[in-house]
Amino acid sequence: MSAYMSGFGNEFESEALPGALPRGQNSPQRCPFGLYAEQLSGSAFTAPQGSNRRSWLYRIRPSVLHARNFRAAELPLWETAPCRTTTAHPIDQMRWGPTPLPDGAVTFIEGVRIMTTAGDADARIGMAAGVYVATRSMADTYFYNADGEILIAPEQGALIFDTEFGRIDAGPGEICVLPRGVKFRVSLKDGPARGYLCENYGAPFVLPSRGVIGANGLANARDFLTPVAAFEDSQRPSVMMVKWGGRFYVCDTPSSPLDVVAWHGNYAPYKYDLSLFCPVGALLFDHPDPSIFCVLTSPSAQAGVGDVDFVIFPPRWQVAEHTFRPPWFHMNVMSEFMGLIFGAYDAKPSGFVPGGVSLHNAMLPHGPDAAAFEIAIHAELAPAKLENTLAFMFESRLSQHPTDFALTHESRQADYAACWDGLPDRFERQRP
Ligand SMILES: [Fe+2]
Repeated sequence: MSAYMSGFGNEFESEALPGALPRGQNSPQRCPFGLYAEQLSGSAFTAPQGSNRRSWLYRIRPSVLHARNFRAAELPLWETAPCRTTTAHPIDQMRWGPTPLPDGAVTFIEGVRIMTTAGDADARIGMAAGVYVATRSMADTYFYNADGEILIAPEQGALIFDTEFGRIDAGPGEICVLPRGVKFRVSLKDGPARGYLCENYGAPFVLPSRGVIGANGLANARDFLTPVAAFEDSQRPSVMMVKWGGRFYVCDTPSSPLDVVAWHGNYAPYKYDLSLFCPVGALLFDHPDPSIFCVLTSPSAQAGVGDVDFVIFPPRWQVAEHTFRPPWFHMNVMSEFMGLIFGAYDAKPSGFVPGGVSLHNAMLPHGPDAAAFEIAIHAELAPAKLENTLAFMFESRLSQHPTDFALTHESRQADYAACWDGLPDRFERQRP
């Protein structure tokens, strides 16, 4: 059973037991129900008011009883920036088919396969992007990421995220964001699962500025959902796994760390249904930049430039007159990691399939394939709706370096760049 509060970055408050939340102060001498008060900081104490994030958690045991006496653990496919591959590779545009589900039992955490990294996790700049595959739920195992927040976009199979703040369900077409330091466990809701994830080392995701679009449209704050408090009072010995500085550690814990009975604050996990995104686009002619489809951005120190932008290409009407309607050919200072959650993508009607990935790195040209171009220049330009399509992009101002996993991936399409082979020289030389 999941229940949510609506809003983005609000000062939320929630209690699973009436009266568990202290009134009028954060850290009373004795908390109600004998709970411990603990602050989780998502920004420096001194961060400006607009970007200051923290929550107060009222828990059965303080986190020090759940995370100490660590031993090293290995998750070799969850790579962290800076990560330069040992596999020689060209700089080419790249594309992959879906990552197959494993035969054995693999949890969400064990099933993370990072495909690109950018920046430097220790410097709190950049990101990692990849896919996850999962065939079993985490049982008595919990995880938190000290290196960054995680954005998860399921493509196949719904997931249940039991977090310190409460429960989030997310299936294909939705996203879930788990802030840095938040403890959680992932269960499968309806069988094997696969999807995409972005680990964001930099500033937490926020809604982008809308500029002249105004106060409404794109992703609206009220459609983001944060769970209400729910706790586990379990005495079962469990394992806590932590990602810290690009390495993994485990420790034993005598009980569930999801023992937060009440909490308040503006630093909490959330989900968002991508079908609620309100696209804005060209109403007469031409094709604006894809930034109009930005759902969330992790701002860098450079004004208006994201360390990571999460952008979607949802179902929408196309009405522009005398216009080439699919994405145009271009070269970009930003690097683009794309995935497809369902349907087909208009610039790549074949070869780019749900579960697959493409990577168009900084300053590498790309655009519609030959078939899409041919269709687009001859298309009847009546209003038309793009239905059954949901692609997305993790776009970064930093170059994305493919990992060994990506370069040696069994579904890597070595002939991807051939999709532009059929573009003829169309220059009308003889025309006066
Ligand atoms: Fe692009």
